[in-house]
Amino acid sequence: MKMKCKACILLLSIIPIAMINVYSRTDNSLDDRVESWLKKHRSIWHDYNVAYVDGQTLHDIIIKNRYTSALEIGTSTGHSTIWIAWAMSKTGGKVVTIEIDETRHRKALKNIAEAGLSAFVDARLGDAHDLVRKLPGPFDFVFSDADKEWYQQYFIDIDPKLKVGGCFTTHNVIDGLTDKEYLRYVQTRPDYTTTIDRKSGAGIMISYKRK
Ligand SMILES: C[S@@+](CC[C@H](N)C(=O)[O-])C[C@H]1O[C@@H](n2cnc3c(N)ncnc32)[C@H](O)[C@@H]1O
Repeated sequence: MKMKCKACILLLSIIPIAMINVYSRTDNSLDDRVESWLKKHRSIWHDYNVAYVDGQTLHDIIIKNRYTSALEIGTSTGHSTIWIAWAMSKTGGKVVTIEIDETRHRKALKNIAEAGLSAFVDARLGDAHDLVRKLPGPFDFVFSDADKEWYQQYFIDIDPKLKVGGCFTTHNVIDGLTDKEYLRYVQTRPDYTTTIDRKSGAGIMISYKRK
């Protein structure tokens, strides 16, 4: 009986800590702000941005796996960044995002600030070909959505910096924009488990690094 009580006390003391880690802030007003901002701006995205449903998919993967260190390649004006950053605001993490075009980078900063998520984003202006190699990592979540012809090289450069159990996601995999050779390369990697999400016409390849 004594042993059982000790186990109960231990369990009760662990549960709140686990809950804090999953949802590290108590201010729910941020969720209301982000949610209404995303809904209000649902139809403003014209800079090769992901569809709403794809943003939701990225957000849900992060929450499900409690990821905290994200990398996004290809910010554009910030739609996917906002979804990833919103998830990061819940897990207590941060996303590094890279964009080469200064006008889009500036617009993204404005959108991210309006949504209330600047604290969860480290937005870099530069060429991801160089920056991806320079960033130390480690990352537990990656969203690859920039120049498709460099997709395989991004994957090769990031792989050593992706934590085991982490997730590498690739956009535009069912709309013909991505080279089939890259898809085959990732799908046949024995150290990854890969599926394709087809909720939008673009498609997201979701590759988990095996434990
Ligand atoms: C498909 S859009 C990204 C859309 C964004 N993920 C979203 O959903 O809002 C691709 C972006 O990658 C950027 N890009 C292309 N090549 C790049 C490179 N080498 N380094 C950094 N950004 C690059 C483009 O300027 C473009 O804004």
